[in-house]
Amino acid sequence: MRRVEFYRHSITEADIAAVGDVLRSVFLTTGPRAAAFERAFAERLGVQHVVTVSSCTSALFLSLTALGLGPEDEVITTPMTFVATANAVLHAGAKVRLVDVEPDTGNIDARQVEAAINSRTRVVIPVHLYGAMADVLDLAEVCRRRSVIMLEDAAHAAEAELDGVRPGQLSQFSCFSTYATKNLTCGEGGAVATNDSTMADALRRLRSHVLSKEAAGRYTERYQHWDMLELGYKANLSDINAALLLGQLPRLEAQRERREAIAKRYEEAFADLPGVTCPKVPAGAQSARHLFTMWVPPEQRDQTLAELQDRGIGVAVNYRAIHLLSYYQSRFGLPRGSFPNAERIGDSTVTLPLFPSMSDDEQQQVIEAVREVAAGWAPSASTVAISGAGSLR
Ligand SMILES: Cc1ncc(COP(=O)(O)O)c(C=O)c1O
Repeated sequence: MRRVEFYRHSITEADIAAVGDVLRSVFLTTGPRAAAFERAFAERLGVQHVVTVSSCTSALFLSLTALGLGPEDEVITTPMTFVATANAVLHAGAKVRLVDVEPDTGNIDARQVEAAINSRTRVVIPVHLYGAMADVLDLAEVCRRRSVIMLEDAAHAAEAELDGVRPGQLSQFSCFSTYATKNLTCGEGGAVATNDSTMADALRRLRSHVLSKEAAGRYTERYQHWDMLELGYKANLSDINAALLLGQLPRLEAQRERREAIAKRYEEAFADLPGVTCPKVPAGAQSARHLFTMWVPPEQRDQTLAELQDRGIGVAVNYRAIHLLSYYQSRFGLPRGSFPNAERIGDSTVTLPLFPSMSDDEQQQVIEAVREVAAGWAPSASTVAISGAGSLR
């Protein structure tokens, strides 16, 4: 049986050669390639600054740290995300306040955000789940009205748009991941986009121990004593990684189109399958199509994962609702029922292979496997119907 990988990167020989050029030079850490990627990515996003960092987790943490949050400050975010989002808030020393998501997109619900804002709320973090942006237009308006900062977790959303708006254009910070499976990848890496020059400078300092000069300045110019001005972190991105990213940028749009075609084919193939629902991409949104998830009856989910793997299909779950994970349970004890939409999605999610170099035959194998597995679901299987009213039954 042929195996269909969950993900295969699209790094080319030219990208590898660009890394070779860095390795043959004297300067391996954050230098001209990182700076070139920062400029090119900022231009693509239509924002003034991009600051590269070692991961999206660092991007989130350093952005929150740059805001100087204290233990009484609250940050509102979603339980339907990777743990990094909420973990960064805890590491930054603030309180996490979760609110539920929309039932049909899985993205944070702007109305629930507004209802949860109080005098301690400093930041709202929408997560652009699977690559489709949360309603940043509404959220930006809510944040403006209530004097709260919006920080986007755009780990999935490098190529996303909503009504022509891109991540980073309406928020104080937008944080990206270039982790191994991301649409734009260098194995491990991240970036923050911001239109705030003061914050961009603060992030550059924080990523390198708040030294008066970053490595490029320390080693390429004549030696001058450098100073340490505050307690910072070590979270910069090397030129080895940045060289990989630079070459991928011009291909992003073509790869997004291929991802869109694959996602559409899945949606069409499963449209008549009882019990299977696909998350909605709202009108006006261009999804980055980072992940393709389908929602299956919760009582069939784990067996579906097992049976797809038995058929050689790479699968994942993005994500189980974070408040139900052991650490969050033991620290906050939020019971089941706290965020019904996120919980139902978390219990129903199966993520299928999606990557630009996936062949039509490979996708056909996945589709046939899903249909076979679904045909074996017990007739009593509940139907995961995402209606306007939003119930997953
Ligand atoms: C929504 C979301 N936020 C944050 C992260 C963290 O990214 P990184 O692995 O680059 O730290 C991820 C990574 O998968 C993610 O999916």
